[in-house]
Amino acid sequence: MAGYLISDTRKVTTHRFIEMKQKGEKISMLTSYDYTTAGIVDRAGVDCILVGDSASNVMVGNTTTLPMTVDQMIYHARSVMRAVNRALVVCDMPFGSYQADCYDGVRNAIRIMKESGCDALKLEGGIEIIDTIKRILDAGIPVMGHLGLTPQSINKFGTYTVRAKEEAEAEKLLSDAKALDEVGCFGVVLEKIPAKLASMVSKEISVPTIGIGAGNGTDGQVLVVADMLGMTQGFSPRFLRRYADLNGIMTEAIGHYVDDVKNGDFPNEKESY
Ligand code: KIV
Repeated sequence: MAGYLISDTRKVTTHRFIEMKQKGEKISMLTSYDYTTAGIVDRAGVDCILVGDSASNVMVGNTTTLPMTVDQMIYHARSVMRAVNRALVVCDMPFGSYQADCYDGVRNAIRIMKESGCDALKLEGGIEIIDTIKRILDAGIPVMGHLGLTPQSINKFGTYTVRAKEEAEAEKLLSDAKALDEVGCFGVVLEKIPAKLASMVSKEISVPTIGIGAGNGTDGQVLVVADMLGMTQGFSPRFLRRYADLNGIMTEAIGHYVDDVKNGDFPNEKESY
């Protein structure tokens, strides 16, 4: 059954998210940053929409996610929320909005929830931000964790290469995942780590793992929508499957429009008043 024929139109909640893992049902997740795309993604049957800070690269043209602000994330998340009926909508807390101290983190988390209307938040990091996550959860806000390649720390890592290949980093990742599970996160994104490690973490924790470049043993998968639709160019990591060539389709369509305007074919009589 294609995703767009999904008959269960009930809103996906964080509780259903966890039930999906318990039932062995894989979870589909894609990013969206705007009203029109989010509407298509939701109607196509995606379970969870991430208003990712990858908006920084995809929508704004920055080379990292670091410049995104709380105001910008609220703007994108509010646009997405206006379009979505079924999917669970998770918004990224941007770099600098939760790292300084937990009070800052809680205040920014409350602001994003209040002003965007999204369903949950995602934060990058493990044990080092566990107090902040606990306080955000205590404020009644569902939290998704994010481990492995955490793009907000790119300046510390120095490269976007696969993480946790060495034993010490893999052990730390496993204990971070357990800590996120124990504190009450409803899910954990695992980005660009060995498939074997991702499978092991997925078996060890009770909440769903959502992989990106983490193999097939996670409880769900996430991709950046502009990448999987082939809108972006010059970014082809091994984990990225392109389901369409929208760049080619859009360039051709726009080229036809330019030709039609230039040769006077557009608009014709039927397209005029
Ligand atoms: O911002 C984003 O798009 C993300 C995904 C890559 C998981 O965090």
